Amino acid sequence: MEKLRIYGGKKLKGRVKISGAKNAAVAILPAALLADDTCLIDNLPYIDDVIVLADILKEMGAYVKLNPQGSIEINVSKMKEYRAHYDMVRRMRASYYLLGVLLAKFGKAEVAFPGGCAIGTRPIDQHIKGFEALGAKVVLEHGVIKAYADKLVGSEIYLDVVSVGATINIMLAAVRAEGTTTIVNAAKEPHVVDVANFLNSMGAKIKGAGTDTIRIKGVDKLSGCEYTIIPDQIETGTYMIAAAATGGDVTVVDVIPKHMEAVTAKLLEMGMEVIEGDDEIRVIGRQRPRKVNIKTQPYPGFPTDLQQPMSALLSIADGVSVITENVWEARFKHLDEIARMGGNAKIEDRVAIIQGVEKLYGAPVIATDLRAGAALIIAGLIAEGVTEISNVEFIDRGYETIEHKLVSLGADIERVDENGKTRRLTLVEGTAAL
Ligand code: EPZ
Repeated sequence: MEKLRIYGGKKLKGRVKISGAKNAAVAILPAALLADDTCLIDNLPYIDDVIVLADILKEMGAYVKLNPQGSIEINVSKMKEYRAHYDMVRRMRASYYLLGVLLAKFGKAEVAFPGGCAIGTRPIDQHIKGFEALGAKVVLEHGVIKAYADKLVGSEIYLDVVSVGATINIMLAAVRAEGTTTIVNAAKEPHVVDVANFLNSMGAKIKGAGTDTIRIKGVDKLSGCEYTIIPDQIETGTYMIAAAATGGDVTVVDVIPKHMEAVTAKLLEMGMEVIEGDDEIRVIGRQRPRKVNIKTQPYPGFPTDLQQPMSALLSIADGVSVITENVWEARFKHLDEIARMGGNAKIEDRVAIIQGVEKLYGAPVIATDLRAGAALIIAGLIAEGVTEISNVEFIDRGYETIEHKLVSLGADIERVDENGKTRRLTLVEGTAAL
């Protein structure tokens, strides 16, 4: 169990390159199993979720060459395995994408019910409804989801909730189905569009990704391709918020500003300066943030995955902010930890009422999930004194070289391993920076 120790109070300054999108990568890697030959995927974030997934694909018989510099080669010509066991999938939620992929590839899939962040009940009824509409029989036996189909046939599927996972999983299953599948009330997140673009590069015929109606015309064959993953919207937002929180001046580089509109709007409302370029955004923390209200929504609304980092910033806002979490029902656990640092929030069901305080103070805190970890890093950067964050493995699941990036921006942060040994990065000119 490693910890991150942050000596707070440093203003972040400089330029930081954003990695490829985690939530696109965790769908694109399994999607590559659908190709008959090699896929080369670039701008891949080197994070634990990707490393775990690459191992799962290897164990299933795929040839996988993962390059820590951010690319992967996948070839499945010898793969026969249609089962993914609990030991393989329990470490990551997104292993549910194997269901759609294996069903499309082999007409059968057996995948243990996935693990992942504890942020509320995480049903997959909409995924299953989609597979069934395509003609599959789906059962849950002893913790394993089993899906079988002699053939998949296109269908119209209306999602009862806007679900990223169900939208992608149904696309994955439908690309090789007979006829046309329509997903109505589909998720519009940038990573949904990215997965559709990847599948289209392999020869799929998907139209409408990024709108609420997606049409997938089934094809017989998908081929290997070369593909570059989009930048991570949530990592981008995390550094934008960290810049504002520390009163810093940070430019996030290699990003898509359009994906950040909801976050940019809130930072402006708080009194921050935000300057957009073609593929970069500069955030200057000009003042103590003004209070704002936030309601999380599917894209293009304010992303739930940035609600936690944003609430760390609102902990020091001038006034009372109200956050309504509309996507996950248990995504405020980090506020209990921030309370240990002097934060003042009251939680009522899906609403957090945050009374801004002038200062946070360093304390030992526990990351309960990935974005809770990001929120605690931001709280630690703002706080006076030393903050020690446990359960860093959650953070490593989704943020690439987080200490490198923070140190390159001037943060004072070190990692403490399970034996209490400290690893501290020193910023040698040019190595931790861009
Ligand atoms: C994806 O999860 C992301 N994970 C999550 O990011 C993100 O919080 C979420 O989308 C919302 O944007 C990945 O992409 C791997 P959903 P997903 O299906 O697909 C309900 C992070 O921090 N629902 O869009 O699992 C569900 O309960 C992670 O990077 C059903 O009711 O989320 C939730 O309330 C955490 N039935 C809502 O829909 C279903 O079958 C949205 O969930 C599916 C979902």
